[in-house]
Amino acid sequence: MTQDELKKAVAQAALEEVKKIIDKDSIAGVGTGSTANFFIDALATIKLDFDGAVASSEATRERLQAHGITVYDLNGVGTVPVYVDGADEVNGRLHMVKGGGGALTREKIIGAASQTFICIADESKQVDILGGFPLPVEVIPMARSYVARELVKMGANPMYREDFVTDNGNVILDLYNFPIDNPLTIEQKINNITGVVTNGLFAMRPADILLLGCADGVKSLKAK
Ligand code: A5P
Repeated sequence: MTQDELKKAVAQAALEEVKKIIDKDSIAGVGTGSTANFFIDALATIKLDFDGAVASSEATRERLQAHGITVYDLNGVGTVPVYVDGADEVNGRLHMVKGGGGALTREKIIGAASQTFICIADESKQVDILGGFPLPVEVIPMARSYVARELVKMGANPMYREDFVTDNGNVILDLYNFPIDNPLTIEQKINNITGVVTNGLFAMRPADILLLGCADGVKSLKAK
């Protein structure tokens, strides 16, 4: 199976999970990225069975709207029953590194506001220790150099993501060669640096379910 076929399979499996959770009045939380895009296309097939969606990026908003799905502002909706999103890396506790596409902050907000977080990923994303994929940190532009110096003190190698501005008008520092042995502590430590908006570690709010696309089928995993 190609990577895209694995992504499509997990997107379809996520749709089956979502159908069990949502009803006519529900708002679904929708993530960002190539795997999430397959989920959006699958979700469109049941668009008459739920009210609408909240989007974790402008790109996702556009794709949802192109399918005729109503997109709401998160402030105007109550709790979100389910959020489906991809990941750049995921470990056995369902902690994730996210934000390869730069949408980490809105993803984290919707994840936090959701009752059930379903991570959809192909098996290449499964790791024992997070940090092989560079960890993105969203930063207020004027704080970029200060935050980078603080991150160096933590042992990271921050690289400015050139020519990239987030949906929130901020910049991204990607942390290379930064093995994440204690995701919970590191997530909070980075968030405590003044000027950081958020970072792409999802440990305080991990996924509840991982749908992992493997050559022999989709596995449904819970945190160990
Ligand atoms: C977007 O900012 C990310 O968090 C994505 O969810 C993550 O990068 C996974 O993307 P793919 O599904 O394209 O690998």
